[in-house]
Amino acid sequence: RDESGQWREQQQQRGGPFIRSGAEFGAFQTPIGLREISCFQFVARGESGLYAMISLHFKVKHMKKIIIAIDGFSSCGKSTMAKELAKEIGYIYVDTGAMYRSVTLFALRAGLFDADGNIQREELRDRMHDIDISFRLNPDTKRPETFLNGENVEREIRSMEVSERVSPIAAVDFVRAALVAQQQRMGREKGLVMDGRDIGTAVFPQAELKIFVTATAEVRAQRRFDELQEKGMPACYDEILRNVQERDYIDSHREVSPLRKAADAIELDNSHLTLAQQQEWLRQRYLEAVGSV
Ligand code: DC
Repeated sequence: RDESGQWREQQQQRGGPFIRSGAEFGAFQTPIGLREISCFQFVARGESGLYAMISLHFKVKHMKKIIIAIDGFSSCGKSTMAKELAKEIGYIYVDTGAMYRSVTLFALRAGLFDADGNIQREELRDRMHDIDISFRLNPDTKRPETFLNGENVEREIRSMEVSERVSPIAAVDFVRAALVAQQQRMGREKGLVMDGRDIGTAVFPQAELKIFVTATAEVRAQRRFDELQEKGMPACYDEILRNVQERDYIDSHREVSPLRKAADAIELDNSHLTLAQQQEWLRQRYLEAVGSV
């Protein structure tokens, strides 16, 4: 490393039997993910004439596995950046919003909302053990998709109907307790990128890297609108903006685990960043956290 802590190539000219030796260190993208690699090279001279011997030695170091907690407001691009990083470094990605959305879909299908939109708490409590949420990797997109009781619900949980009902469901204490316990089990082996609202504060307060993402409500509503349009799903900007603001309010004012930045989280306002800029920023924070920069 140089004085500023950056990795750099080093090469030295030497006398003696070695006419040249060199070494290179750094974090490189490899077919098995981002790895720390060191490589040494020596060129030697013999006594009865000049000949060269080259010895290359590669050492691939498995980088320390950590937990990366990414929290922030709805539709601020957390999942996109979390998913990309997980893919790049070979970590498991967990979208905890998808878990709250799956419980909401289950409650909608089971008729557990009354005409005024209130949740029938006792019925939901009794049915909690009927809810099984899992993630499976889509072999084509290489991205995880959400399954509710064995059914792929990845598309359905993103509908406006679910978005409108999910915040009150996420405020129910026994729903949070069940999902947080499942999330903590998923992180036992580390090597995990998890995004949500309370990951750095309640699920993994000991996470090695915590990021808190923000962006203005208007920018987030526009992104959500573009995303729905791209998927060919019905979308109205004003309605989405209202939903984003409403969810911000409920998520940050609820009694159980309200959305807030952990004291040791690094904040990122991505209102004016491109996806590539965000990705690079996150990659640098990851390398710092595992001690490779
Ligand atoms: O990230 P999202 O928009 O898919 O999340 C859906 C809802 O779930 C959102 O209103 C907040 C809630 N949520 C939560 O309370 N805690 C989490 N860890 C993740 C999501």
